[in-house]
Amino acid sequence: MSELIIVSGRSNSPLAEKIARSLGEELSPVTITNFSDGEIWVKYEENIRGKDVFIVQPTNPPAENLLELLIMIDAARRASAKRITAVIPYFAYSRQDRKDQPRVSVTAKLVANLITEAGADRVITMDLHTPQIQGFFDIPLDHLYGSTVLVKALFDIKSDNLAIASPDVGGIKTARTYAKILGADLVVVDKRRPSHNVAEVMNIIGEVEGKNIIVIDDLIDTGTTFVKCSEALIAAGAKSITGVCTHAVFSGSAIEKIHNSPAIQNVYVTDTFPMHWDSNKIHTISVADLFAEAIRRTHNNASISSLFEIIR
Ligand code: R5P
Repeated sequence: MSELIIVSGRSNSPLAEKIARSLGEELSPVTITNFSDGEIWVKYEENIRGKDVFIVQPTNPPAENLLELLIMIDAARRASAKRITAVIPYFAYSRQDRKDQPRVSVTAKLVANLITEAGADRVITMDLHTPQIQGFFDIPLDHLYGSTVLVKALFDIKSDNLAIASPDVGGIKTARTYAKILGADLVVVDKRRPSHNVAEVMNIIGEVEGKNIIVIDDLIDTGTTFVKCSEALIAAGAKSITGVCTHAVFSGSAIEKIHNSPAIQNVYVTDTFPMHWDSNKIHTISVADLFAEAIRRTHNNASISSLFEIIR
């Protein structure tokens, strides 16, 4: 069997280091620098010819992170790696997954094409905005679930009168699965987006009065959806709000909005994004062991389906 090599780009090296540690491996040395004009330069510092290379690089903005991943894949291919797996804990642009207006790009598909064209043989990722994005790749893709680790934190919230809320119609399936596992009721918030990064709560469907509510989302970006949804639920009679999301994008003033919202008690997020917040309301649960196990099994050509067992 070819040797396992784990290498990290610069977008979330703490997570890559944790993944390597969990596997009992060291990150393979790579030099990544920028020229004075910003162009990225990558060089693997050890022989990777014939090796099984896993490149850990979430593609969160700026777009340089995506470009860096593409360059790392290309460099690995030209260095004759036997197999290249792009490990993308957060796949950016996944919200642009359809032509919902005239004359717009399906950018998630474009990004999938770029990764494939650069020379990746496989992809391991987590909580794509919609699971159908898997079909944008014509190479094998393993789709992990943040809920596998997040739900464990929720078991510790020994709350009665529990309800799980989806902040939009798109999240109902995930919310329903959490509700089933936790024996909780389901609430759906009917959200509309009049324009980008603006959210309005139209209706709340389900029993809210006196409930301890866990709001589940795949990502929190500006925090608008989560804060508005939480405040609407409290206004409708909910007792407490806990947030859960996989990808803590937290752009703009999201952290302040969440921290300062009296409606929100706690938020549980993962480390698919590099941690850049300071709020005692926000708790991080690492996905490193889960990615490490997926890498181990991929390397050994073993099944990874048991990694989905806790929740789908
Ligand atoms: C939307 O469909 C997503 O699941 C999130 O609810 C949304 O992207 C969060 O964005 P923001 O935090 O900017 O409202």
